[in-house]
Amino acid sequence: MLKTIEWTGAAVRLLDQTRLPHETVYLDITDQRQMHDAIRRLVVRGAPAIGVAAAFGAYLGVKEHVDDSPPRFFERLNSVCDCLATSRPTAVNLFWALDRVQRVAREVAGDRVTASPTCQVVRDVLDAILNECQVMMEEESRSGRAIGEHGLKLLRELRACRHQAAKRDSTELKASDAAERFEILTHCNAGALSTAAYGNALSPIYFGAEQGEQFHVFADETRPLLQGSRITAYELRANNVPVTVICDNMAPVVLAKNRIDAVIVGADRIAANGDTANKIGTLGLAIAARHFNVPFLVAAPTSTIDPKTASGAEIPIEQRGADEVTSFGQRPTAPKDVDVYNPAFDVTPAELITAIITERGIAKPPTRESLAALLSHRSA
Ligand code: MRU
Repeated sequence: MLKTIEWTGAAVRLLDQTRLPHETVYLDITDQRQMHDAIRRLVVRGAPAIGVAAAFGAYLGVKEHVDDSPPRFFERLNSVCDCLATSRPTAVNLFWALDRVQRVAREVAGDRVTASPTCQVVRDVLDAILNECQVMMEEESRSGRAIGEHGLKLLRELRACRHQAAKRDSTELKASDAAERFEILTHCNAGALSTAAYGNALSPIYFGAEQGEQFHVFADETRPLLQGSRITAYELRANNVPVTVICDNMAPVVLAKNRIDAVIVGADRIAANGDTANKIGTLGLAIAARHFNVPFLVAAPTSTIDPKTASGAEIPIEQRGADEVTSFGQRPTAPKDVDVYNPAFDVTPAELITAIITERGIAKPPTRESLAALLSHRSA
């Protein structure tokens, strides 16, 4: 699998996801302005990957400032973080990662911020920031795998329940119902390429495949930027998982006609009450899944849960440029200067979500209490 993000020792190497699936291009990012631009343009995308990238961006923004006095260094660090925080507003991982970098820096400096006349404090802080970026990257990979384990267990339980219900009601299982293969529908890309590794929504699939389970995935193409057809289909094929791409407006028909075991999506921000912001189109999918009685699962690391945001109404939704909607692959597809509405995300209310799968376990159903319990031992 291609690596989304990597520290080379001198630069942050990003896979340019705007060019997938037909071109594999890496960009070496060497300062915080380039990182801001890479996040804004979706070169690096997906909430967990954005978080790790922003943390490295903060490091790039201060790494040459080793000779600054500690107070000056901290001023610089804060302004670099404030600037990176303006790159994209919805994925909370970005703010969480920047807060974490600033906290570690403060902890390492302690009361030496004002006391020390030498630059040793700054050196220590720089080492600690770089180390924290690498720790975050490793944590995201580990979280992805744990989400896969919990998610696979849940998928197996849901299948067993369906089989039991069919037995109880003496309904004969259709051949497709009895099949061992899991049928999954997903939206956008919450796979390995949206994280430091492994993925979220796709992780139960990769983990299950390792255990010998069979999967088939319907991937919504995900207008306007096509993360589903360009990225999800690409990475599933690279991992030998059968995938069928559909236009977003075909998903309700697939839910009605095919036996879908579960819809699984990722998340950009989960409010304290379980309301979940994810790629535009997720809400419609959740409504359709409820209508057809298909479990609707969200898979995300706990770094995507934002206890400070009480409900979905408070989640800031990114609005993107009109050209994403009025063109298709550089070709204009709408009258020039037509009015456009282009929110990049929507919010699915918690009551439409069957379960939220995290690396620490599952909130089923997602409520303020079940999510708070998952967060109770998280490091801030
Ligand atoms: O705009 P993007 O590509 O950064 O959006 C990412 C998403 O919304 C994905 O749907 C994903 O589920 C959340 S990140 C794992």
